[in-house]
Amino acid sequence: MRGITIAIDGPAASGKSTTAAAVAEALGYCHLNSGQLYRAITWASLRGAWNGSENRFRRELERLDLRLDRHTPGYRVLVNGRDIGEGLVSVETSSHVSAVSTRKSVRDKVLAMLRNEGGQGGVVCDGRDIGTVVFPDAELKVFLIASAEERGRRRLRDRGLELTPDGIRREAGLLQARDAADSERILAPLRRAPDAVLLDTTTLSPSEVVDRIVSMARRAEAAFG
Ligand code: CDP
Repeated sequence: MRGITIAIDGPAASGKSTTAAAVAEALGYCHLNSGQLYRAITWASLRGAWNGSENRFRRELERLDLRLDRHTPGYRVLVNGRDIGEGLVSVETSSHVSAVSTRKSVRDKVLAMLRNEGGQGGVVCDGRDIGTVVFPDAELKVFLIASAEERGRRRLRDRGLELTPDGIRREAGLLQARDAADSERILAPLRRAPDAVLLDTTTLSPSEVVDRIVSMARRAEAAFG
């Protein structure tokens, strides 16, 4: 049995990627992190300064060597054969990624890569439009949310930064601005699928979130697997 498809969507820093990786590991599935593909394209377009006109952007995007390299339990994204490490999560990449993700050429490319890798099942894919657009037939869909303040705190902690009230407020503001851009775009906006389970993680520990999703997945495996 290859397993079911699990879609985990939600706003920025709601814990999707960490949760998806742990759920994939617990189930022996593969973790596909769609945000990394959008981030890698954004990084490359900033690096090559082709982030302007749509014609140039399309040409360069077609030429871009973007690959998913299997790296249990997930993938590494390679740009021109290279792991770009911190470039994926830099403040510069994060502040441009929503705009780059609105481009149809970008969404088409990422959609094709995700379906190609995850289309057979046995996958936990996280992002913004996984349950609505990428895998609308996923057997289990989860929409993770958490308060902006808690998400700001988590993001600062991830970066090893000090948790001051001002810092948390600033970070929460940046996350909310990205959520607004992701929710308001026309193509594949951030949206909860009607059949997605809503899970508020504000007061839950990472392992509580993982345990809940793994239990739901086991039930879905029994029903559909
Ligand atoms: O980790 P974080 O929640 O900050 O974001 P991410 O999952 O790495 O996604 C970064 C950005 O990529 C998002 O803000 C969206 O603009 C875009 N994205 C998207 O448009 N569709 C997806 N399925 C995943 C990410």
